[in-house]
Amino acid sequence: MNPISDSRTLLFDRLIKAALGKVHGDREVGIHFLRADSSGAASLRKAVAHVPVTASPAATGAQAGLTDVESPDSPTQTARHPLASLQNSNWSRLIPSPMSPPEPTVQFPMPAPLDRPAREAAVAALRAKVIACTRCPNLVSARKSVVFGVGDIHARLMFVGEAPGADEDAQGEPFVGKAGELLTKIIIAMGFSREQVFIANILKCRPDTPGQSAGNRKPTPAEMATCIPWLHEQIALIRPEAMVALGATAVEGLLGKTEGITRLRGHWQSYRGIPLMPTFHPAYLLRNQAPAEKRKLWEDMLAVLRLLRLPISPKQQDYFLPKP
Ligand code: URA
Repeated sequence: MNPISDSRTLLFDRLIKAALGKVHGDREVGIHFLRADSSGAASLRKAVAHVPVTASPAATGAQAGLTDVESPDSPTQTARHPLASLQNSNWSRLIPSPMSPPEPTVQFPMPAPLDRPAREAAVAALRAKVIACTRCPNLVSARKSVVFGVGDIHARLMFVGEAPGADEDAQGEPFVGKAGELLTKIIIAMGFSREQVFIANILKCRPDTPGQSAGNRKPTPAEMATCIPWLHEQIALIRPEAMVALGATAVEGLLGKTEGITRLRGHWQSYRGIPLMPTFHPAYLLRNQAPAEKRKLWEDMLAVLRLLRLPISPKQQDYFLPKP
């Protein structure tokens, strides 16, 4: 028996199984490629990290390997790197490092996807329930409309904002005010129309502002917790290939993360297996018009286009870059 070659075999065995598990798991949720860049490498690294150290020989078989890595975001996964004992060996350069911490994410699984007619019927039924919702008495008594969402329910891309403002409440459609105009420009600059994507919010009703004739407020945690099941259902029916979370409240509502949008933006997240890109809320860019900030949001959108395998023109590539 040669312990070095046994360990080496085990290392490669685990790396290959983790990689395969990641690819199979992605395919299950509609992701059909692995990005050949640092973010693809990071997701593979994460998959490798979640292969349990204590896997029995049987559990290192292909079947068990796939099962082990199918839910890489589970909080129950082993924190220790499975290959940690090999870190000091000659071939430790093969061991991905540093480890990224597991991403907390929504844990409940996606139901099976529906075909187009069934999806249309299910979204119509959901819309009927949402517009009749009376779960938040203060919002019900202040609202003019329930803002369900707008766009193509078969869209590849979905945008999620915070909550309707006064304009959205008046028109019953998300993102139609000033921030909405900017979002529409962003969507068009990406090569879509508003009708080709789906746009929704964490809250379906405008947060009330008693005693104030104007202005908006952030949804309370209780309002978010009450309303978010509607959005979870909506996403499970629409099944976009990618999502964009606009601003910190959208990220908090979808992922439970409160790190702040400045830190999270530009870094792919996973919402129940759907790649989710956090970025600035367009209202932030209305307040801060620095080209460098616009470029950050735009880079996030370029990442989305790349993920969706959509062409990017040289002009698109260069938006908001300083002129030479
Ligand atoms: N801001 C949001 O987050 N959503 C809207 O619908 C409008 C403004």
